[in-house]
Amino acid sequence: MRSRKKFRRIGGVPVKSRAQLDGIRESGKVNTAVLDYVQERICAGISTAEIDRWVSEETKRLGGIAAPLHYEGFPKSVCTSRNNVICHGIPNTKEFLKEGDIVNVDVSTIYKGYFSDASRMFCIGEVSADKRRLVQVTREAVQVGLMEVKPWKPIGDMGHAVHMYALGQGYSVVEDIGGHGVGLQFHEDPFVSYVSPKGSGEIMVPGMVFTIEPMINMGTPDYYVDEKNGWTVYTADGMPSAQWEVTVAVLEDGYEVLSH
Ligand code: MF3
Ligand code: CO
Repeated sequence: MRSRKKFRRIGGVPVKSRAQLDGIRESGKVNTAVLDYVQERICAGISTAEIDRWVSEETKRLGGIAAPLHYEGFPKSVCTSRNNVICHGIPNTKEFLKEGDIVNVDVSTIYKGYFSDASRMFCIGEVSADKRRLVQVTREAVQVGLMEVKPWKPIGDMGHAVHMYALGQGYSVVEDIGGHGVGLQFHEDPFVSYVSPKGSGEIMVPGMVFTIEPMINMGTPDYYVDEKNGWTVYTADGMPSAQWEVTVAVLEDGYEVLSH
């Protein structure tokens, strides 16, 4: 389902032109603004369906389209993943946020044909020290990954750094589910792993755009997918999981975060 037509490729990975980077940057601004909108309002007592409504309406107000809606059959405009949900939680009128929850809100925007993708964790009211540390370390893991984003290095070095950081803090990193190229489509090559060996994977070149979005578990890295909806990914041991996501572009002299 991935069109290869529009991309200039180096070694199989799409490389964006300056004009395309400008377009993705504008999309990323809308995406970040929608996350800010959620951040200002999220609190105990609301349903996850309410977050879906905010994202849908605010994205439209800003001239964008929420990318998740109908993407490969996904039924809502945003993913909301609480506590032991690793990712792809589906907003629901019967699921309410309560004090002590940690929740990931994953927003993806199409703006003037360009795609961007970012997510944040939110701590609802008083959250246990354990869960707060998981959220904080996961946020730091993305920063550790960003520090490895430099042209002419293999992307596996970035994933390796994220993995080592999370392990060093006593956590595990989900394998098989990872990040992706983004910009002209929602999900492009390369697949981006956060457990990759040093020296592995595609060479990062200026103009590559991809996500850093590690899923970090307090317990084991094992997971299962909801049989009924085919989307929602849960930790196998029921322990909490956290994720932060940014869209990043590789530049001649480093990187630029396009949405966060
Ligand atoms: N935003 C998710 C990501 O980071 C995409 C989930 S696919 C969806 O890749 F259909 F659930 F939106
Ligand atoms: Co993503």
